[in-house]
Amino acid sequence: MIRQPATIVASAAYLPPNRVPNAHFEGYLDTSDAWIFERTGIKERRWADDTMSTSDMGLMAAQKALEKAGITPRDIDLLLVATMTPDQPLPSTAALIQSKLDGCKAPAMDISAACSGYLYGLSVAKAYIESGMYQNILLIGCEKMTQVVDPLDRSTVILFGDGAGASVIKAGGKGLRIDRIVLGLDGHLNHALFIPQSGKMKMLGQEIFKTAIQRGVETIEFLLHQEKIAIEEIDHLVFHQANLRIIQNIQKRFNVPSEKIPTSIDFTANTSAASIPILLESIPHQENQRYLSVAFGAGFTYAGAIFTSL
Ligand code: ACO
Repeated sequence: MIRQPATIVASAAYLPPNRVPNAHFEGYLDTSDAWIFERTGIKERRWADDTMSTSDMGLMAAQKALEKAGITPRDIDLLLVATMTPDQPLPSTAALIQSKLDGCKAPAMDISAACSGYLYGLSVAKAYIESGMYQNILLIGCEKMTQVVDPLDRSTVILFGDGAGASVIKAGGKGLRIDRIVLGLDGHLNHALFIPQSGKMKMLGQEIFKTAIQRGVETIEFLLHQEKIAIEEIDHLVFHQANLRIIQNIQKRFNVPSEKIPTSIDFTANTSAASIPILLESIPHQENQRYLSVAFGAGFTYAGAIFTSL
């Protein structure tokens, strides 16, 4: 049997309406709009209110992605949700979204790989599709980061935002063919970013910053070497949006023009597993272009992927 390549046929985003500018923090924290923007590239982020959960945001993005892909919840063979902010410990956020997606009977599971969650999830989708086990997979990255950050910790609360992104991955079809995915983990760095059983996020910002640049550079070099292509042959570098200075450091190493690097950090901040599908939605589709995507996050997880647009 000739197997079809796993292809992202549609991506869609959902951001809650409440915009929170940097100036919001000036009222109660020792910080400023200028400090936040200069150190991170963030101008504002979206915050979900008490009535909106991670699964609610994931559902909104999923419905848009299914509509764009021209399929219904009934057509989904597998539902994957990448999140580090589940609604509750059990059942999974994927199970909650399945119950809200009218007619969806697909098996569903969560993937916990922090900000690398979308690319980790994509590797699972690719493997299932290429094995021939499933044909239509819905992958959602959704996060309510406001439920895990300490509102009084100026070094973390300013960095994160809420939101969701979703992709439909099919066997064959037009869209972004997933050529290659690489995953990695530096488990010894798990102390650098964690959420204790009861408590809020703790982060060693500089350690994460340095490791993100180092692993980001290595991941790009590895993917280019494996695909036997040069960086000049990449049309879009799709980075996880954590800090504009991390992106600019990696950009400088490879001398990539800014036009090839879409960003959303200024208006989304870091939406963790949602950031890459949110960006994918914003890139206009043109055939025969190459995309290279890189993500990193708590764990310390990292991942990279190469796509070709068909
Ligand atoms: N406003 C003003 N000052 C601040 C703020 C703030 N919001 N936050 C920290 N500072 C202070 C620090 O307390 C420190 O003060 P001190 O010198 O008196 O001790 C000073 O600024 C410098 O602190 P640094 O940590 O050296 O600042 P840096 O330039 O590294 O920026 C930042 C901090 C923005 C957190 C940066 O380290 C960073 O972005 N790291 C990566 C974080 C990240 O991407 N995390 C997400 C990973 S993905 C995931 O899985 C969730």
